[in-house]
Amino acid sequence: MRSEKAIEKIKIDLREEQRDYEIIIGAGLLNRLDKYIGQLYQGKKIFLVTDENVMKFYGEQVKEVLSSAGYEITLYVLPAGEEAKSSPYLKKGYDYLLENNFNRDNLILALGGGVVGDLAGFLAATFMRGIPFVQIPTTLLAQVDSSVGGKTAINHPRGKNLIGAFYQPKMVLIDPGFLQTLPVRELRTGLAEVLKYGFIVDRDLLDFMAGHREEILNLETAALTRIIQTSCRIKAAIVREDEKEKGMRALLNFGHTIGHALEAVTEYKKYTHGEAVAIGMVAAGELSRSVENLEKAEVDYLKELIRAYGLPLSCQYGEGLKEVYERLFYDKKVQKNKLRWILLKELGAAYIDEGVDNKIVKEVLEGIM
Ligand SMILES: NC(=O)c1ccc[n+]([C@@H]2O[C@H](COP(=O)([O-])OP(=O)(O)OC[C@H]3O[C@@H](n4cnc5c(N)ncnc54)[C@H](O)[C@@H]3O)[C@@H](O)[C@H]2O)c1
Repeated sequence: MRSEKAIEKIKIDLREEQRDYEIIIGAGLLNRLDKYIGQLYQGKKIFLVTDENVMKFYGEQVKEVLSSAGYEITLYVLPAGEEAKSSPYLKKGYDYLLENNFNRDNLILALGGGVVGDLAGFLAATFMRGIPFVQIPTTLLAQVDSSVGGKTAINHPRGKNLIGAFYQPKMVLIDPGFLQTLPVRELRTGLAEVLKYGFIVDRDLLDFMAGHREEILNLETAALTRIIQTSCRIKAAIVREDEKEKGMRALLNFGHTIGHALEAVTEYKKYTHGEAVAIGMVAAGELSRSVENLEKAEVDYLKELIRAYGLPLSCQYGEGLKEVYERLFYDKKVQKNKLRWILLKELGAAYIDEGVDNKIVKEVLEGIM
Protein backbone atom coordinates (compact mmCIF):
# COMPACT_ATOMS: atom_id res chain seq x y z
CA MET A 1 0.00 0.00 0.00
CA ARG A 2 1.14 3.55 -0.73
CA SER A 3 2.60 5.32 2.28
CA GLU A 4 0.77 8.45 3.40
CA LYS A 5 4.02 10.36 3.26
CA ALA A 6 4.48 9.58 -0.43
CA ILE A 7 5.18 12.54 -2.66
CA GLU A 8 3.44 12.72 -6.01
CA LYS A 9 4.74 14.88 -8.83
CA ILE A 10 2.62 15.96 -11.77
CA LYS A 11 4.32 17.66 -14.64
CA ILE A 12 2.62 20.57 -16.34
CA ASP A 13 3.90 20.14 -19.84
CA LEU A 14 3.41 23.34 -21.80
CA ARG A 15 5.53 22.09 -24.71
CA GLU A 16 8.11 24.75 -23.99
CA GLU A 17 10.76 23.51 -21.63
CA GLN A 18 11.51 26.70 -19.75
CA ARG A 19 7.85 27.14 -18.83
CA ASP A 20 7.11 23.54 -17.84
CA TYR A 21 6.72 23.03 -14.11
CA GLU A 22 5.76 20.51 -11.48
CA ILE A 23 2.90 20.21 -9.04
CA ILE A 24 4.24 18.46 -5.97
CA ILE A 25 1.67 16.90 -3.64
CA GLY A 26 2.33 15.36 -0.26
CA ALA A 27 1.34 15.46 3.40
CA GLY A 28 3.95 17.29 5.48
CA LEU A 29 5.37 19.30 2.56
CA LEU A 30 4.90 22.40 4.66
CA ASN A 31 7.96 21.47 6.71
CA ARG A 32 10.08 20.83 3.64
CA LEU A 33 9.25 23.93 1.60
CA ASP A 34 12.89 25.05 1.68
CA LYS A 35 14.01 21.83 0.03
CA TYR A 36 11.70 22.26 -2.97
CA ILE A 37 12.20 26.00 -3.30
CA GLY A 38 15.96 25.45 -3.19
CA GLN A 39 15.66 23.28 -6.30
CA LEU A 40 14.54 26.19 -8.43
CA TYR A 41 15.73 29.31 -6.65
CA GLN A 42 19.31 30.14 -5.81
CA GLY A 43 18.64 33.66 -4.45
CA LYS A 44 17.85 34.73 -0.89
CA LYS A 45 15.01 37.24 -1.04
CA ILE A 46 11.43 35.96 -0.99
CA PHE A 47 8.28 38.08 -1.16
CA LEU A 48 5.72 36.04 0.78
CA VAL A 49 2.11 36.96 0.01
CA THR A 50 -0.59 35.56 2.29
CA ASP A 51 -3.82 36.63 3.98
CA GLU A 52 -4.56 37.28 7.62
CA ASN A 53 -6.29 33.93 8.28
CA VAL A 54 -3.57 31.84 6.71
CA MET A 55 -0.99 34.01 8.47
CA LYS A 56 -2.62 33.20 11.80
CA PHE A 57 -2.50 29.44 11.23
CA TYR A 58 0.66 28.92 9.21
CA GLY A 59 2.56 32.20 8.83
CA GLU A 60 5.08 31.69 11.61
CA GLN A 61 5.76 28.08 10.64
CA VAL A 62 6.39 28.95 7.00
CA LYS A 63 8.60 31.89 7.93
CA GLU A 64 10.53 29.69 10.34
CA VAL A 65 11.12 26.91 7.77
CA LEU A 66 12.31 29.40 5.17
CA SER A 67 14.36 31.64 7.47
CA SER A 68 16.16 28.65 8.97
CA ALA A 69 17.24 27.74 5.45
CA GLY A 70 18.72 31.24 5.03
CA TYR A 71 15.96 32.95 3.04
CA GLU A 72 15.13 36.60 3.76
CA ILE A 73 11.38 37.03 3.91
CA THR A 74 9.42 40.18 3.12
CA LEU A 75 5.87 39.58 4.22
CA TYR A 76 2.76 40.98 2.54
CA VAL A 77 -0.40 40.09 4.48
CA LEU A 78 -3.68 40.78 2.68
CA PRO A 79 -7.08 41.05 4.34
CA ALA A 80 -8.99 37.77 4.01
CA GLY A 81 -11.62 37.69 1.28
CA GLU A 82 -12.33 38.75 -2.26
CA GLU A 83 -11.78 42.48 -1.64
CA ALA A 84 -8.03 41.86 -1.61
CA LYS A 85 -8.13 40.95 -5.30
CA SER A 86 -8.27 44.60 -6.28
CA SER A 87 -6.10 47.38 -7.59
CA PRO A 88 -5.36 49.04 -4.21
CA TYR A 89 -3.79 45.82 -2.92
CA LEU A 90 -2.00 45.25 -6.19
CA LYS A 91 -0.48 48.72 -5.99
CA LYS A 92 0.51 48.20 -2.37
CA GLY A 93 2.25 45.00 -3.48
CA TYR A 94 4.25 46.84 -6.16
CA ASP A 95 5.15 49.50 -3.56
CA TYR A 96 6.51 46.89 -1.11
CA LEU A 97 8.42 45.11 -3.83
CA LEU A 98 10.08 48.35 -4.92
CA GLU A 99 10.75 49.60 -1.38
CA ASN A 100 12.47 46.31 -0.63
CA ASN A 101 14.53 46.31 -3.84
CA PHE A 102 13.00 43.20 -5.40
CA ASN A 103 13.87 42.46 -8.99
CA ARG A 104 13.34 39.78 -11.60
CA ASP A 105 15.95 37.50 -10.01
CA ASN A 106 13.89 37.16 -6.84
CA LEU A 107 10.87 35.05 -6.00
CA ILE A 108 7.25 35.63 -5.02
CA LEU A 109 5.53 32.96 -2.91
CA ALA A 110 1.74 32.81 -2.80
CA LEU A 111 0.60 31.12 0.43
CA GLY A 112 -3.20 31.01 0.61
CA GLY A 113 -6.42 30.38 -1.23
CA GLY A 114 -7.43 31.46 -4.70
CA VAL A 115 -7.57 35.12 -3.74
CA VAL A 116 -3.94 35.19 -2.63
CA GLY A 117 -2.87 33.05 -5.60
CA ASP A 118 -4.66 35.21 -8.16
CA LEU A 119 -3.39 38.50 -6.75
CA ALA A 120 0.17 37.31 -6.13
CA GLY A 121 0.23 35.68 -9.57
CA PHE A 122 -0.86 38.88 -11.29
CA LEU A 123 1.67 40.83 -9.24
CA ALA A 124 4.33 38.38 -10.40
CA ALA A 125 3.17 38.51 -14.02
CA THR A 126 3.40 42.29 -14.17
CA PHE A 127 6.17 43.36 -11.79
CA MET A 128 9.17 44.21 -13.97
CA ARG A 129 7.46 42.30 -16.79
CA GLY A 130 7.48 39.07 -14.85
CA ILE A 131 9.16 37.72 -11.72
CA PRO A 132 9.18 34.00 -10.85
CA PHE A 133 6.51 32.78 -8.48
CA VAL A 134 5.55 29.63 -6.62
CA GLN A 135 2.08 28.70 -5.43
CA ILE A 136 1.43 27.09 -2.05
CA PRO A 137 -2.36 26.71 -2.11
CA THR A 138 -4.08 26.32 1.24
CA THR A 139 -7.78 25.88 0.32
CA LEU A 140 -9.13 22.82 -1.48
CA LEU A 141 -10.36 25.06 -4.30
CA ALA A 142 -6.89 26.48 -4.75
CA GLN A 143 -5.26 23.03 -4.51
CA VAL A 144 -7.46 21.46 -7.18
CA ASP A 145 -8.21 24.42 -9.37
CA SER A 146 -6.94 27.99 -9.07
CA SER A 147 -3.25 27.24 -8.45
CA VAL A 148 -3.06 25.03 -11.53
CA GLY A 149 -3.19 26.42 -15.02
CA GLY A 150 -1.67 29.88 -14.86
CA LYS A 151 -4.71 32.15 -14.79
CA THR A 152 -4.04 35.20 -12.63
CA ALA A 153 -6.31 38.19 -12.11
CA ILE A 154 -7.74 40.96 -10.03
CA ASN A 155 -11.35 42.16 -10.05
CA HIS A 156 -12.67 45.42 -11.46
CA PRO A 157 -15.72 47.24 -10.03
CA ARG A 158 -17.52 46.14 -13.23
CA GLY A 159 -16.82 42.47 -12.81
CA LYS A 160 -14.70 39.65 -11.46
CA ASN A 161 -11.34 38.70 -12.95
CA LEU A 162 -11.56 41.33 -15.67
CA ILE A 163 -7.91 42.39 -15.35
CA GLY A 164 -5.48 39.54 -15.58
CA ALA A 165 -2.83 37.54 -17.36
CA PHE A 166 -1.93 33.97 -18.19
CA TYR A 167 1.26 33.50 -16.19
CA GLN A 168 2.52 30.12 -15.07
CA PRO A 169 4.17 29.53 -11.69
CA LYS A 170 7.56 27.83 -11.41
CA MET A 171 6.14 25.21 -9.07
CA VAL A 172 3.00 24.36 -7.11
CA LEU A 173 3.48 22.82 -3.66
CA ILE A 174 0.37 21.14 -2.22
CA ASP A 175 0.10 19.89 1.34
CA PRO A 176 -3.34 18.40 2.13
CA GLY A 177 -2.56 19.10 5.80
CA PHE A 178 -3.56 22.74 5.26
CA LEU A 179 -7.16 21.62 4.90
CA GLN A 180 -7.41 20.63 8.59
CA THR A 181 -8.10 24.25 9.51
CA LEU A 182 -10.30 25.14 6.54
CA PRO A 183 -13.91 26.09 7.41
CA VAL A 184 -16.31 23.41 6.18
CA ARG A 185 -18.14 25.73 3.78
CA GLU A 186 -14.81 26.48 2.08
CA LEU A 187 -14.03 22.77 1.95
CA ARG A 188 -17.35 22.15 0.18
CA THR A 189 -16.50 24.80 -2.39
CA GLY A 190 -13.44 22.79 -3.34
CA LEU A 191 -15.41 19.54 -3.30
CA ALA A 192 -17.83 21.01 -5.84
CA GLU A 193 -14.88 21.52 -8.19
CA VAL A 194 -13.61 17.98 -7.57
CA LEU A 195 -17.07 16.62 -8.41
CA LYS A 196 -17.03 18.78 -11.53
CA TYR A 197 -13.86 17.03 -12.76
CA GLY A 198 -15.61 13.72 -12.25
CA PHE A 199 -18.74 14.84 -14.08
CA ILE A 200 -16.83 16.13 -17.10
CA VAL A 201 -14.15 13.50 -17.62
CA ASP A 202 -13.74 10.89 -14.90
CA ARG A 203 -16.48 8.56 -13.73
CA ASP A 204 -14.00 6.62 -11.56
CA LEU A 205 -13.43 9.75 -9.53
CA LEU A 206 -17.19 9.98 -8.95
CA ASP A 207 -17.35 6.38 -7.81
CA PHE A 208 -14.41 7.04 -5.48
CA MET A 209 -16.22 10.06 -4.05
CA ALA A 210 -19.38 8.03 -3.61
CA GLY A 211 -17.48 5.26 -1.82
CA HIS A 212 -15.22 7.39 0.40
CA ARG A 213 -17.48 10.18 1.59
CA GLU A 214 -16.69 9.64 5.28
CA GLU A 215 -12.93 9.60 4.79
CA ILE A 216 -13.01 12.71 2.62
CA LEU A 217 -15.26 14.68 4.96
CA ASN A 218 -13.15 13.52 7.92
CA LEU A 219 -10.12 14.94 6.08
CA GLU A 220 -8.23 11.66 6.02
CA THR A 221 -4.92 12.21 4.29
CA ALA A 222 -5.00 9.27 1.90
CA ALA A 223 -8.48 10.10 0.58
CA LEU A 224 -7.76 13.82 0.29
CA THR A 225 -4.47 13.16 -1.47
CA ARG A 226 -6.21 10.89 -3.96
CA ILE A 227 -8.86 13.46 -4.94
CA ILE A 228 -6.31 16.29 -5.12
CA GLN A 229 -3.96 14.24 -7.30
CA THR A 230 -6.70 13.14 -9.64
CA SER A 231 -8.08 16.66 -9.96
CA CYS A 232 -4.65 18.16 -10.64
CA ARG A 233 -3.93 15.47 -13.23
CA ILE A 234 -7.18 16.24 -15.02
CA LYS A 235 -6.63 19.99 -14.96
CA ALA A 236 -3.00 19.54 -16.06
CA ALA A 237 -4.10 17.45 -19.06
CA ILE A 238 -6.70 20.01 -20.08
CA VAL A 239 -4.31 22.96 -19.68
CA ARG A 240 -1.67 21.13 -21.69
CA GLU A 241 -4.11 20.83 -24.60
CA ASP A 242 -5.54 24.32 -24.34
CA GLU A 243 -3.56 26.72 -22.16
CA LYS A 244 -5.31 29.90 -23.34
CA GLU A 245 -8.90 28.60 -23.28
CA LYS A 246 -9.55 28.44 -26.98
CA GLY A 247 -11.23 25.03 -26.92
CA MET A 248 -11.46 22.18 -24.45
CA ARG A 249 -10.46 24.24 -21.39
CA ALA A 250 -14.03 25.50 -21.63
CA LEU A 251 -15.17 22.09 -20.30
CA LEU A 252 -13.97 23.31 -16.92
CA ASN A 253 -16.88 25.74 -16.95
CA PHE A 254 -19.37 22.92 -16.41
CA GLY A 255 -21.97 24.29 -13.99
CA HIS A 256 -20.33 27.70 -13.99
CA THR A 257 -22.60 29.53 -16.47
CA ILE A 258 -25.60 29.40 -14.16
CA GLY A 259 -23.34 29.34 -11.08
CA HIS A 260 -21.73 32.67 -11.99
CA ALA A 261 -25.12 34.22 -12.78
CA LEU A 262 -26.48 33.13 -9.40
CA GLU A 263 -23.47 34.50 -7.56
CA ALA A 264 -23.71 37.80 -9.42
CA VAL A 265 -27.43 38.45 -8.90
CA THR A 266 -27.10 37.67 -5.20
CA GLU A 267 -24.07 40.00 -5.04
CA TYR A 268 -21.71 37.22 -3.98
CA LYS A 269 -23.34 37.18 -0.54
CA LYS A 270 -25.85 34.37 -0.51
CA TYR A 271 -23.91 31.45 -1.99
CA THR A 272 -20.31 30.41 -1.85
CA HIS A 273 -18.80 29.77 -5.27
CA GLY A 274 -19.13 26.02 -4.70
CA GLU A 275 -22.79 26.23 -3.73
CA ALA A 276 -23.61 28.29 -6.81
CA VAL A 277 -21.65 25.90 -9.02
CA ALA A 278 -23.40 22.91 -7.44
CA ILE A 279 -26.80 24.38 -8.39
CA GLY A 280 -25.36 25.19 -11.83
CA MET A 281 -24.21 21.57 -12.25
CA VAL A 282 -27.68 20.27 -11.37
CA ALA A 283 -29.11 22.65 -13.99
CA ALA A 284 -26.51 21.55 -16.56
CA GLY A 285 -27.41 17.93 -15.76
CA GLU A 286 -31.10 18.63 -16.34
CA LEU A 287 -30.28 20.52 -19.52
CA SER A 288 -28.23 17.54 -20.71
CA ARG A 289 -31.24 15.36 -20.06
CA SER A 290 -33.47 17.62 -22.18
CA VAL A 291 -30.97 18.09 -25.01
CA GLU A 292 -28.87 14.97 -25.12
CA ASN A 293 -31.13 12.43 -23.43
CA LEU A 294 -28.76 12.00 -20.51
CA GLU A 295 -30.40 9.14 -18.65
CA LYS A 296 -32.50 9.91 -15.59
CA ALA A 297 -30.39 7.52 -13.49
CA GLU A 298 -27.29 9.54 -14.42
CA VAL A 299 -28.90 12.84 -13.41
CA ASP A 300 -30.02 11.20 -10.16
CA TYR A 301 -26.44 10.03 -9.43
CA LEU A 302 -25.15 13.54 -10.13
CA LYS A 303 -27.65 14.98 -7.65
CA GLU A 304 -26.98 12.28 -5.07
CA LEU A 305 -23.26 13.09 -5.09
CA ILE A 306 -23.86 16.82 -4.79
CA ARG A 307 -26.23 16.24 -1.88
CA ALA A 308 -23.85 13.78 -0.21
CA TYR A 309 -21.21 16.50 0.04
CA GLY A 310 -23.56 18.99 1.67
CA LEU A 311 -24.05 21.10 -1.43
CA PRO A 312 -27.42 22.48 -2.55
CA LEU A 313 -29.45 21.14 -5.49
CA SER A 314 -31.68 24.15 -5.98
CA CYS A 315 -32.15 27.69 -4.75
CA GLN A 316 -34.87 29.80 -3.18
CA TYR A 317 -34.41 32.80 -5.37
CA GLY A 318 -37.62 32.29 -7.35
CA GLU A 319 -38.47 35.94 -7.74
CA GLY A 320 -35.13 36.53 -9.47
CA LEU A 321 -35.59 34.01 -12.28
CA LYS A 322 -35.73 36.67 -14.96
CA GLU A 323 -32.70 38.38 -13.49
CA VAL A 324 -30.69 35.13 -13.41
CA TYR A 325 -31.71 34.32 -16.98
CA GLU A 326 -30.69 37.76 -18.24
CA ARG A 327 -27.46 37.60 -16.31
CA LEU A 328 -26.44 34.49 -18.27
CA PHE A 329 -25.82 36.73 -21.27
CA TYR A 330 -23.46 39.14 -19.40
CA ASP A 331 -20.64 36.63 -19.45
CA LYS A 332 -17.53 37.96 -21.21
CA LYS A 333 -17.52 34.84 -23.39
CA VAL A 334 -21.11 35.14 -24.73
CA GLN A 335 -21.35 36.03 -28.40
CA LYS A 336 -24.48 36.99 -30.35
CA ASN A 337 -26.86 35.96 -27.56
CA LYS A 338 -25.69 32.38 -28.05
CA LEU A 339 -24.92 30.67 -24.79
CA ARG A 340 -22.17 28.14 -24.80
CA TRP A 341 -23.17 25.19 -22.65
CA ILE A 342 -21.00 22.46 -21.27
CA LEU A 343 -23.28 19.44 -21.23
CA LEU A 344 -22.93 15.73 -20.56
CA LYS A 345 -23.46 12.80 -22.87
CA GLU A 346 -22.97 10.64 -19.80
CA LEU A 347 -21.31 11.15 -16.44
CA GLY A 348 -17.61 11.52 -17.22
CA ALA A 349 -18.13 12.68 -20.81
CA ALA A 350 -18.74 16.40 -21.35
CA TYR A 351 -19.01 18.30 -24.60
CA ILE A 352 -19.61 21.88 -25.73
CA ASP A 353 -23.04 22.72 -27.10
CA GLU A 354 -23.79 26.12 -28.64
CA GLY A 355 -27.10 25.20 -30.16
CA VAL A 356 -29.33 24.89 -27.10
CA ASP A 357 -32.70 26.57 -27.49
CA ASN A 358 -32.98 29.34 -24.89
CA LYS A 359 -36.58 28.22 -24.20
CA ILE A 360 -35.26 24.96 -22.76
CA VAL A 361 -32.81 26.95 -20.64
CA LYS A 362 -35.68 28.93 -19.14
CA GLU A 363 -37.61 25.74 -18.36
CA VAL A 364 -34.63 24.19 -16.62
CA LEU A 365 -34.06 27.38 -14.63
CA GLU A 366 -37.66 27.31 -13.47
CA GLY A 367 -37.08 23.78 -12.26
CA ILE A 368 -34.13 24.64 -10.04
CA MET A 369 -35.41 27.91 -8.65
N1 LIG B 1 -6.95 31.39 -11.28
C1 LIG B 1 -7.87 30.47 -11.48
O1 LIG B 1 -7.78 29.63 -12.37
C2 LIG B 1 -9.05 30.44 -10.56
C3 LIG B 1 -9.92 29.33 -10.58
C4 LIG B 1 -10.98 29.31 -9.67
C5 LIG B 1 -11.14 30.33 -8.77
N2 LIG B 1 -10.28 31.39 -8.78
C6 LIG B 1 -10.43 32.48 -7.81
O2 LIG B 1 -10.17 31.97 -6.52
C7 LIG B 1 -10.81 32.79 -5.56
C8 LIG B 1 -11.48 31.92 -4.53
O3 LIG B 1 -10.50 31.12 -3.91
P1 LIG B 1 -10.78 30.38 -2.53
O4 LIG B 1 -12.06 29.69 -2.60
O5 LIG B 1 -9.56 29.64 -2.18
O6 LIG B 1 -11.05 31.61 -1.54
P2 LIG B 1 -10.11 32.46 -0.56
O7 LIG B 1 -8.76 32.61 -1.07
O8 LIG B 1 -10.89 33.70 -0.26
O9 LIG B 1 -10.06 31.55 0.75
C9 LIG B 1 -11.27 31.26 1.42
C10 LIG B 1 -11.16 31.56 2.91
O10 LIG B 1 -10.38 30.56 3.54
C11 LIG B 1 -9.34 31.14 4.32
N3 LIG B 1 -8.25 30.16 4.30
C12 LIG B 1 -7.42 29.87 3.29
N4 LIG B 1 -6.67 28.79 3.59
C13 LIG B 1 -7.04 28.42 4.85
C14 LIG B 1 -6.63 27.36 5.70
N5 LIG B 1 -5.76 26.44 5.31
N6 LIG B 1 -7.21 27.29 6.92
C15 LIG B 1 -8.16 28.19 7.31
N7 LIG B 1 -8.59 29.19 6.53
C16 LIG B 1 -8.04 29.30 5.31
C17 LIG B 1 -9.07 32.45 3.64
O11 LIG B 1 -8.46 33.36 4.52
C18 LIG B 1 -10.47 32.88 3.24
O12 LIG B 1 -11.12 33.46 4.32
C19 LIG B 1 -11.79 33.67 -6.33
O13 LIG B 1 -11.28 34.98 -6.38
C20 LIG B 1 -11.80 33.06 -7.72
O14 LIG B 1 -12.03 34.03 -8.73
C21 LIG B 1 -9.25 31.45 -9.65
